[in-house]
Amino acid sequence: MVEKFIIHPGKPLNGAMEVSGAKNAVLPVLAGSLLTAQPCTISNVPNLSDVESMRELVESLGGNTNWNHKSSSISVDAGNLMKHEAAYELVGRLRASFLIVGPLLARLGRARVPLPGGCAIGSRPVDLHLKGLAALGAKIEHSQGYVEASAKKLYGANIYLDFPSVGATENIMMAAALADGQTVIENAAIEPEIVDLANFINTAGGQVRGAGTDTIKITGVKFMNSTQHSIISDRIEAGTFMVAAALTGGDIILTNVMGDHVKPVTAKLKEVNVQVHETDKGIQVNASESPLVAADIKTLPYPGFPTDMQAQFMSLLTKAKGTSIITETVFENRFMQVGELKRMGADIKIESRSAIIKGVDKLTGTNVCATDLRAGAALVLAALAADNITEVTGISHIDRGYCQLDKRLNQLGARIERVKDNIVIPVQK
Ligand code: EPZ
Repeated sequence: MVEKFIIHPGKPLNGAMEVSGAKNAVLPVLAGSLLTAQPCTISNVPNLSDVESMRELVESLGGNTNWNHKSSSISVDAGNLMKHEAAYELVGRLRASFLIVGPLLARLGRARVPLPGGCAIGSRPVDLHLKGLAALGAKIEHSQGYVEASAKKLYGANIYLDFPSVGATENIMMAAALADGQTVIENAAIEPEIVDLANFINTAGGQVRGAGTDTIKITGVKFMNSTQHSIISDRIEAGTFMVAAALTGGDIILTNVMGDHVKPVTAKLKEVNVQVHETDKGIQVNASESPLVAADIKTLPYPGFPTDMQAQFMSLLTKAKGTSIITETVFENRFMQVGELKRMGADIKIESRSAIIKGVDKLTGTNVCATDLRAGAALVLAALAADNITEVTGISHIDRGYCQLDKRLNQLGARIERVKDNIVIPVQK
């Protein structure tokens, strides 16, 4: 089945848009729901295929879940958690599945999970996860492509992360939540999604202090309780819509956005001549006045410019006056969008981990293919600003991390058709 977007040349986006719950917060929180034998309710859950994959994984381990799409909430009851082994086909779909290792170790004393393969953007090793879990007393073995972790008991430890890995910080934090004694994670990731997971753990009876700083202290508890938790809004979805407004010379208001979480993107948009204001209604992005100008970007761990916004911002810079340089320091292969953008007329040269972008007056629509989530989003954004129709295939990548991106951009004035085997799918109201 070939599913694609047909994107007609856009007009300036206009109007208000509510930002969904954060994919990169709900996935670790769903894994974290395995830590307690009591039922939890997670709200503000975005309707994404990655969330469905994680929900199925929790079910496969013995957790009972119910996803109420009307209320955008998922209830999880992991009281009957009994399987410590995750199925290959489930883990293969979603790298974040590896986040179940910490909770399984903490609850069952063992975990057997396929070693996640690399993906389009890089080799994505998990050595820092495993080093941290071993420091807590887990025995780590590798066999037939699986990681087998076991521990009669986990003991608090002092762990220094060589790199402030988001996933490693999350996995270690979850395992330490039920360990005996105190764990200190130094050089921890400080992304907002780490804070959201810590808040979930704390409201369920855990003791995590310092999340959001590079030193997190976790005092293990014997068991955790029931909790209700609302997921923070998605700063990367917000940034994507902000860039869409900037690329189309539009004027939009984003609601349900945490202004602090999008500061690096807001600062860069202002640098390229886009007006961004925090109003009492939300964040206003107005690009209708002045022409875009070039800027340099270096992706860094939070609060630096987010790697998850690099591809989308590259689309913007292809039309900015002057020469911009983007340096991707977090992942080793995250310029997959470059080839397709060049086929649309962009002038981009890759030199090692940097892309040199010379602004062009126009982009021309053509057939392009999404290779990964954010590269796909970048192609949709470029298509909104192209002079004629663009067809984007590989949109299942986009649906993993954006809830109805086509429908919601159309609500702001875009003209995107979702086509399955050449039949236009009517937009659900
Ligand atoms: C999370 O991935 C996000 N995914 C990614 O978002 C995001 O790009 C990334 O953090 C960085 O912000 C989720 O939260 C589900 P890392 P994660 O561990 O945890 C290296 C998106 O588009 N590393 O911080 O996998 C790794 O290779 C996705 O929404 C090791 O070397 O990111 C990479 O170069 C893509 N060893 C760097 O650290 C390890 O054990 C950052 O990885 C772990 C990571």
